[in-house]
Amino acid sequence: MLKTTLLLASATALALASTSPDVVELNIQNGEPDGAPYADYVSPLVLPSRNISGEGDWKEAVAKAKAYVADLTLLELVNITTGQGLFGRCIGQTGEITRKGFRGICLEDSPLGVRHADLVSVFPAGINAAATWDKDLIRKRGEAMGAEFRGKGVNVALSPMMNLGRAPAAGRGWEGFGGDPFLTGVAAVETIKGIQSQGVIATAKHFIGNEQEHFRGGSGSQAASSDINDRTMHELYLWPFAESVRAGVGAIMPSYNRINQTHACENSKVLNGLGKEELSFEGFYMSDWGAMVSGVNSALAGMDMNMPGFTAYGVVDDQSDPSKSNSSYWGAELVKAVNNGSVPRSRVEDMVTRTFAAYFKMGQDKDYPAPNYSQLTTATYYNGELANEHVNVQADHYKIIREIGAASIVLLKNKNQTLPLDPSSGNRWGIFGSDAGPLLNGPNGGADRTPPLEGGTLAVGWGSGTSNYPYLVDPLQALQREISAANPIAGVEGVLKDWDYEAVANVASVVDRCLVFANSASGEQYITVDGNEGDRNNLTLWHGGETLIKNVAANCSDTIVVLHTVGPVEMEKFYDHENITAIVYAGLPGQETGNSLVDVLFGKVNPSGRLPYTIGKKRSDYPADVIYTNSSIEVPQIPYTEELQIDYRWFDAKNITPRYEFGFGLSYSTFSYSSLGVKSTDLKKRNNEGSSVHSLGLYDDAYTISFDVKNSGGVEGHEVSQVYLGFPESAGEPPKVLRGFERTWLKKGASSTVSVKINKKGLSVWNVVKQAWEVPSGEFKVYVGASSRDIRLSDSFTV
Ligand SMILES: *[C@@H]1O[C@H](CO)[C@@H](O)[C@H](O)[C@H]1NC(C)=O
Ligand SMILES: *[C@@H]1O[C@H](CO)[C@@H](O)[C@H](O)[C@H]1NC(C)=O
Ligand SMILES: *[C@@H]1O[C@H](CO)[C@@H](O)[C@H](O)[C@H]1NC(C)=O
Ligand SMILES: *[C@@H]1O[C@H](CO)[C@@H](O)[C@H](O)[C@H]1NC(C)=O
Ligand SMILES: *[C@@H]1O[C@H](CO)[C@@H](O)[C@H](O)[C@H]1NC(C)=O
Ligand SMILES: *[C@@H]1O[C@H](CO)[C@@H](O)[C@H](O)[C@H]1NC(C)=O
Ligand SMILES: *[C@@H]1O[C@H](CO)[C@@H](O)[C@H](O)[C@H]1NC(C)=O
Ligand SMILES: *[C@@H]1O[C@H](CO)[C@@H](O)[C@H](O)[C@H]1NC(C)=O
Ligand SMILES: *[C@@H]1O[C@H](CO)[C@@H](O)[C@H](O)[C@H]1NC(C)=O
Ligand SMILES: *[C@@H]1O[C@H](CO)[C@@H](O)[C@H](O)[C@H]1NC(C)=O
Ligand SMILES: *[C@@H]1O[C@H](CO)[C@@H](O)[C@H](O)[C@H]1NC(C)=O
Repeated sequence: MLKTTLLLASATALALASTSPDVVELNIQNGEPDGAPYADYVSPLVLPSRNISGEGDWKEAVAKAKAYVADLTLLELVNITTGQGLFGRCIGQTGEITRKGFRGICLEDSPLGVRHADLVSVFPAGINAAATWDKDLIRKRGEAMGAEFRGKGVNVALSPMMNLGRAPAAGRGWEGFGGDPFLTGVAAVETIKGIQSQGVIATAKHFIGNEQEHFRGGSGSQAASSDINDRTMHELYLWPFAESVRAGVGAIMPSYNRINQTHACENSKVLNGLGKEELSFEGFYMSDWGAMVSGVNSALAGMDMNMPGFTAYGVVDDQSDPSKSNSSYWGAELVKAVNNGSVPRSRVEDMVTRTFAAYFKMGQDKDYPAPNYSQLTTATYYNGELANEHVNVQADHYKIIREIGAASIVLLKNKNQTLPLDPSSGNRWGIFGSDAGPLLNGPNGGADRTPPLEGGTLAVGWGSGTSNYPYLVDPLQALQREISAANPIAGVEGVLKDWDYEAVANVASVVDRCLVFANSASGEQYITVDGNEGDRNNLTLWHGGETLIKNVAANCSDTIVVLHTVGPVEMEKFYDHENITAIVYAGLPGQETGNSLVDVLFGKVNPSGRLPYTIGKKRSDYPADVIYTNSSIEVPQIPYTEELQIDYRWFDAKNITPRYEFGFGLSYSTFSYSSLGVKSTDLKKRNNEGSSVHSLGLYDDAYTISFDVKNSGGVEGHEVSQVYLGFPESAGEPPKVLRGFERTWLKKGASSTVSVKINKKGLSVWNVVKQAWEVPSGEFKVYVGASSRDIRLSDSFTV
């Protein structure tokens, strides 16, 4: 009885926070600026926070966690909920349970490798993993990253990132897997399974609606509100998180931004409603760094861990004992909140049980290494104390890095089979552009891979989503090596100064062939590069890339363009230039970038990478863009008005011809498709399946799509086949949505039967009234092809 009353009292407190004066003000004074119905976008309260239940394969781990947590004191419990600030070895570090000899939990960035450490690898970025469209390679990347996190003693890897490529200029898009929720979901699952196979807890992030850097919140900046309707939330942004939960992800990171006016970390609809109830998430929520803006409300809304523990950046009180720390929303404040009845003790027990459930599920109670690096320094000592044991965790991961780098290269243009090149053909090679060469201050010269203004090759974006290069094989270095090996006296002449057009023209006009490099970078908001505050200001090439390309092409009839970009770039000014014989779109390949490139250029690898997003002709062709300026309203709003129509869905729906469509990529060979078969499995229990990942039947296979792919060209290689569905008209879906893909290795002349299974969720739309997935009745179209617009086979079925 008492408990209920207290809970209601807290619910009221939370209700007030959810519709804070800001929002009331907003509704009354501002109405609907720009016609966007902001006032309707308010998150309802969902209380109380569901206890961990131990469903499915969490059962054993939850039982162990409950037993472990049962006798913990309040101070011990609170120690695990709150970080020690930025003073320990790891970027996040909970307190200890001294009595039990438990040293606490170590958390570390990033989605592409162990940040802050030496002797680690820089893997290809998430966007390149996605561009391989290869589940096996993505899994192997996850396994190798997991092994490195484990080797450094990290319990929780802050990877993978799965926000969607909604706005092409979004600064951190490259950390994730592109513009489609299905592809992102598959890539997230493989990454999570790979990381967790090594006993490391993976983190699905950022939860949710964190699709731009401006006004993202945290680090003193104001958090905008991502205004997303329920159907869009389920069918797009929540989709990869649902897949991650189903894959058993141990942690989810609520984001900095607001959703429907309420900060993610105190949004009970998002945390309790969507995550813990609907998806039956059994792991723990840990805040993005400094994203928690309240104590009691966040606890009731479902948060489980406050990272790095302090209230705001800049507060430097000693937090070596989190349970006593008074510079945290939790810490000593959470102890008080339990003691004065604002937060039920059972909620705190649940926080810690969830954390230990993930810990036991990964087997971290058995022989898990202690941290042996320090986020404070890569030097051996810090303040006179040993900080780094310099454990080398790279093993042979360079091999998979090189393989993924090559497999993720998207060949956009290849006039008259210009590529592959014979390294012994031609006596003089011209290499142009700073992007071909080394970074002036060394690979790690700029903090968190900030690209130097004078240029240098771009192999990852900037920010916390990076790791320290052990080395960086730049393209020039790799080209020089391969060309000299074939012909020791071949001329390899480079003009790396992007603006030295005279030198460029002089070299371009005398060499046999030109390779011109350009890039476009972005990253996290806390670093501004050339006026770009995380998000890109434009979609054009940096360092005068367009002019450089045109200057080379004007003087060189065989010009090969190589681009390293974080996301789509405009190519209208050069893509069809008669002297540009090939365009190689290499993304962000990581430390082996040059080696991956030469593997494709010289034909050791037949390119099979496919665009994980649409390259439009111009920026205004895209459905959504970054909001850069503060409207006059209190909380900047990001209305997701395009709803389901992001990326290719929009280009298809609006009949806008892109430059290169989603799923596009050329090969040195050709592939033919035949024999489409569509087979249904039992769909009897199809409707009102509910929403939980444990719902009966939602993830059962409903249809099997099979077809034959034949390598009809002259080179062995991989073909990436894609399966799209067209929903019955009444469903109100985009013209086609990706529902399956397969990358198949085929020798010359060989063929193979590919079969792709579509589960019931894949045929469903989210019914906002019933709050359930539902298979619409009517005719579904099946499209099978080599890209979203190169459809080779089609058929239909009726449900
Ligand atoms: C946000 O508001 C929209 C519009 O009312 C609603 O459909 C959606 O469910 C809300 N989502 C959350 C997480 O509050
Ligand atoms: C969670 O479990 C505890 C018992 O451990 C119980 O007291 C509490 O009411 C439960 N909370 C909810 C929200 O069900
Ligand atoms: C909490 O953690 C700190 C170290 O972070 C430790 O010194 C302290 O003893 C711990 N408290 C308890 C009750 O175990
Ligand atoms: C460091 O790494 C090694 C190997 O992974 C591990 O055995 C050790 O426990 C770790 N910690 C320290 C402090 O060396
Ligand atoms: C917070 O804790 C520090 C010691 O860690 C103490 O000096 C300070 O007075 C405390 N502040 C408050 C407001 O309790
Ligand atoms: C209980 O303690 C918490 C943490 O100090 C505080 O935020 C909250 O206002 C307190 N509630 C009451 C009813 O005193
Ligand atoms: C490409 O081939 C076509 C004929 O197929 C020919 O007309 C054209 O000159 C060739 N272009 C180049 C750059 O070799
Ligand atoms: C390069 O091309 C430009 C434009 O066609 C031309 O004006 C210039 O003379 C050329 N340079 C050389 C060195 O041939
Ligand atoms: C786009 O931004 C980049 C990086 O700031 C800059 O180098 C370039 O000049 C800009 N492009 C245009 C057309 O302004
Ligand atoms: C292509 O290159 C040739 C040889 O350098 C040059 O004469 C011609 O003008 C170039 N074409 C264009 C469109 O720039
Ligand atoms: C946006 O403008 C409003 C009204 O002028 C102001 O209250 C708010 O602080 C501004 N936010 C940011 C992030 O600049």
